[in-house]
Amino acid sequence: MNGAQLYDLLFPVVTRESAWRPRLISQLVAGLPVTTTPPGEAASSGPVILDVGAGTGTQALAIADAAPHARVIAVEPGSNVHAARQKPNPHQVEFLQGEAQALPLAAGSVDRIVISLALHHMSAPVRREALAEFRRVLKPDGRLHVVEFGKPSDPFMRAASAFARRLDDYDGMRDPYAGRIPAILIAAGFHVRPGRRRRTPGGVIEVTEAWLAA
Ligand SMILES: C[S@@+](CC[C@H](N)C(=O)[O-])C[C@H]1O[C@@H](n2cnc3c(N)ncnc32)[C@H](O)[C@@H]1O
Repeated sequence: MNGAQLYDLLFPVVTRESAWRPRLISQLVAGLPVTTTPPGEAASSGPVILDVGAGTGTQALAIADAAPHARVIAVEPGSNVHAARQKPNPHQVEFLQGEAQALPLAAGSVDRIVISLALHHMSAPVRREALAEFRRVLKPDGRLHVVEFGKPSDPFMRAASAFARRLDDYDGMRDPYAGRIPAILIAAGFHVRPGRRRRTPGGVIEVTEAWLAA
């Protein structure tokens, strides 16, 4: 078993993925304009959904299943992008190797951005650059959905978070665990609507919806 396969096996358990991912995808695709694309053909003029830090591509492929009329672009800097490209891809998700802070996309070209558990892998300056990029590529009425760890809600979550932090990105998790993700998004020029908090074996996970402040 390679690293990407192990990741795909453990990630759903550690993050209790079934508690938040299906709802996230429904929220993400809600309200998108609907066009019809024949099966097996790439959607060229439909809405554009961008998955940043897409890892092994599980989420981007599920988004494309939920919105087959959309053009789904997944950006991932690591070698997991190669694993993503090996997976069945009936709706032709575009897997690009790249970083959040330098998105290979035109200004005002994206309807939805989702970033799941990737912001905590960025230093504060890189995170600021990434959020500036999200502002640049989003359409004025676009939406950003951020999945991140949140402030532990009780002693059990504090213990789970402390353990997960040692295994993951110790410094990067400081702001998420302090509950600062909404404030960071506001400082970057977004309005925010915090979502439901989920208790998971890896700690509290929150989905925050954000949109451009005028
Ligand atoms: C925990 S994984 C999450 C993968 C996927 N979003 C998911 O929910 O399954 C975090 C991902 O963030 C990516 N990442 C780290 N720094 C990044 C950056 N500067 N820009 C974009 N992605 C980044 C990593 O390569 C990794 O694949």
